[in-house]
Amino acid sequence: MKWKQQLFGMKAYQPGKPIEEVKREFGLEKIVKLASNENPYGYSPKVKAFLESDHTNHAIYPDGYAQNLRTVMANHLGVKETQLMFGNGSDDLIAIVTRALLYPGVNTVMATPSFSQYSHNAEIEGAEVRQVPLKDGKHDLKAMLEAIDENTSIVWVCNPNNPTGTIVSDDELTNFIQKVPSDVFIVLDEAYFEYVNSPEYKDTLHFVEEYPNVLVMRTLSKAYGLASFRVGYAIANEDIIKKLDPVRAPFNNSILSQKVAIIALEDQEFIQETTEKTALGKKQFVAFCEKHQLNYYPSQANFILFEVKADSDTVFKEMMKRGYIIRSGNALGAPGYIRVTIGTEEQNEEFLRLLEEVLTELGVFA
Ligand SMILES: Cc1ncc(COP(=O)(O)O)c(C=O)c1O
Repeated sequence: MKWKQQLFGMKAYQPGKPIEEVKREFGLEKIVKLASNENPYGYSPKVKAFLESDHTNHAIYPDGYAQNLRTVMANHLGVKETQLMFGNGSDDLIAIVTRALLYPGVNTVMATPSFSQYSHNAEIEGAEVRQVPLKDGKHDLKAMLEAIDENTSIVWVCNPNNPTGTIVSDDELTNFIQKVPSDVFIVLDEAYFEYVNSPEYKDTLHFVEEYPNVLVMRTLSKAYGLASFRVGYAIANEDIIKKLDPVRAPFNNSILSQKVAIIALEDQEFIQETTEKTALGKKQFVAFCEKHQLNYYPSQANFILFEVKADSDTVFKEMMKRGYIIRSGNALGAPGYIRVTIGTEEQNEEFLRLLEEVLTELGVFA
């Protein structure tokens, strides 16, 4: 068969281990998953109430233009309806953007380590992937600018960056965007946007107005707690959306996802509570790292990447045996580190107590 050559040797995305699989493997009753940066508080109680009494007819196709959700989102963001595109998660948006702009002969510039789907999709399209190492856990924007040439089609800025949680400040971003050639498409992936409380990070939607080559993508999978509903959204100028829209699958958000997203967007109190509790939870991890002199990255997201002074895979396995699923830094391009989603106060407390036990057993604190 005439497969794309680049598919040979490629592996499917490796998600955090599913809860049921770990329960079976280790004979555990209780499992806490702090691996995929989901919301440990679930979703808005208003969404819960709706789902309990919902009678959606799933035998019919959804509105492919997501008109109701589009109107609510446009009002929420203060943009035009025609400036929006919805995806089946932002994963779908990443695939749409790459499919539209990447092909053999062009290249794409991104940080490393960063979110794996940028390079994964680029490889499928046969484009050259240019990965620029982070500097102190942050995007090295100067080196990224240097990596751009006349064949660069997309540059990705993951802000906050997954897996480090670090941000690019508004000043740094302004300076960067000004210098990127106008024929290079700039993606600002802001999956963790709601969690950021640094004054250096400002709303980036003004870039969309000022620069015709900027697209911002966000998601309802993280702070909104709707990962399973798969709703991501992109904001760009109308011309960009018009170009990208033919690449989108016709019904890429289910009827239920569209309804739930509207209710979730209208409950900003839930987002406020989630982000406040997450900020407090992050302090538990920071205190642990400081107590044990473990290096950590200053995260503005709902996860933290920190040093364990031991093999990451060993720590990952030992924590899994104790009922906690996390991400080993080995899988994320950060050996010697683990990435942990901030859980509830009780989960964080128990996790850190067990981690202390594991690291003591491994002789890290000797
Ligand atoms: C930086 C970043 N972008 C995009 C995504 C994809 O999220 P979703 O497809 O659930 O919207 C993730 C998920 O972990 C992420 O970390």
